[in-house]
Amino acid sequence: MRTYLVTGGAGFIGSNYIQYIMLKYAEEIRVINFDKLTYAGNLKNLETISQSENYIFIKGDICDRGVVEQIFCDYDIDRVVHFAAESHVDRSIKDPEIFVRTNVLGTSVLLNAAKAAWENSDGTFKKDKKFLHVSTDEVYGSLEEEGFFYETTPYSPHSPYSASKASSDLLVKSYIDTFRFPANITNCSNNYGPYQFPEKLIPLTIHNALKGEKIPIYGDGLNIRDWLYVTDHVKAIDMVQETGRLYEAYNIGGHNERTNIQIVKTILQVLNELLADSDSRKKYISESLITYVEDRKGHDRRYAIAPDKMKVETGWYPETGFEEGIKKTVQWYLEHQEWVEDVTSGEYQKYYKEMYHIR
Ligand code: NAD
Ligand code: TYD
Repeated sequence: MRTYLVTGGAGFIGSNYIQYIMLKYAEEIRVINFDKLTYAGNLKNLETISQSENYIFIKGDICDRGVVEQIFCDYDIDRVVHFAAESHVDRSIKDPEIFVRTNVLGTSVLLNAAKAAWENSDGTFKKDKKFLHVSTDEVYGSLEEEGFFYETTPYSPHSPYSASKASSDLLVKSYIDTFRFPANITNCSNNYGPYQFPEKLIPLTIHNALKGEKIPIYGDGLNIRDWLYVTDHVKAIDMVQETGRLYEAYNIGGHNERTNIQIVKTILQVLNELLADSDSRKKYISESLITYVEDRKGHDRRYAIAPDKMKVETGWYPETGFEEGIKKTVQWYLEHQEWVEDVTSGEYQKYYKEMYHIR
């Protein structure tokens, strides 16, 4: 039985990943979800599998060397899939230090623990051990109107978030180059789908629209992101481990560029389609909610990934078209209002008030 250590498995992408591999591999694997449960981590994301005998949850901090080393002592870990991170650009502008701590130091602690557990006395590594570091296309910086990010594009991060992710990528690369440490790096574009915390553009828009609250658009609304449905992303991560070449970096993107204003208008249209006429929230759904606010500091203009290497080497492609993905996403949020209420009570209200002054 193969044992996975998934860090940050209670977050958005991590919980989608755990659900995906537990369904795909069933009894063949055991999954240890190691998560600090910050504001972004929620065990309700994993309610469907929490009773499985092959699933273990350990609450803890990836920066805590003792706890991380103990996990490698207690279990014979075969795969590390490292999602745990501080992940929101706006928060990194307000408070960069926690990003350096979790994203850089935390990755270093994990790398050291895995290296110590997996290394043979001659400096080679035990067979079939793999570490996958989940990263972002934001490490490449910002594109003008033309061109794409390739794996060979030089790193040029701008925000404290992307700088901390770039630093962690470079640490992983250094372990590959120095020790031939068995790792891969994946750099993916903006994800969307179920369980995303409503601080990010898509769930925030759905949440505000349903409450009839203003929808904040930074700057001119023409910044472009390349949206990837989360299930396509977690499949890609699995394919990198199963069929990708060890030591390589892979770009994962949706070939789906949209301006932020297009995204918001599409969500409003989908809400209009999906809400019954008798639903009292339908009266709120209108483009008049769109409110242009001060631009994000250092706002990257355009991200766009060329996922050619993934396609050629693993056969992966983004299966979910945006029209289908956004409908599924909006539908999920409509059906999980309790989850939304839960994560947006308390601390979220404080964050929202400090971040946006538009209510
Ligand atoms: P998220 O913020 O939803 O979840 C992060 C998870 O990590 C949470 O469960 C949180 O509790 C946990 N965590 C945070 N600090 C921790 C610590 N010190 N120790 C242990 N656990 C900790 O993030 P996400 O959107 O699921 O992103 C997952 C990964 O994918 C991140 O590494 C992120 O940089 C990367 N990524 C995300 C996107 C995206 O669009 N969401 C795009 C590209 C890359
Ligand atoms: P976000 O979801 O925070 O992801 P990232 O910054 O990692 O790309 O933001 C996506 C885009 O939407 C980005 O260009 C910033 C913009 N945005 C808004 O216009 N308003 C908002 O309230 C948020 C959260 C984001």
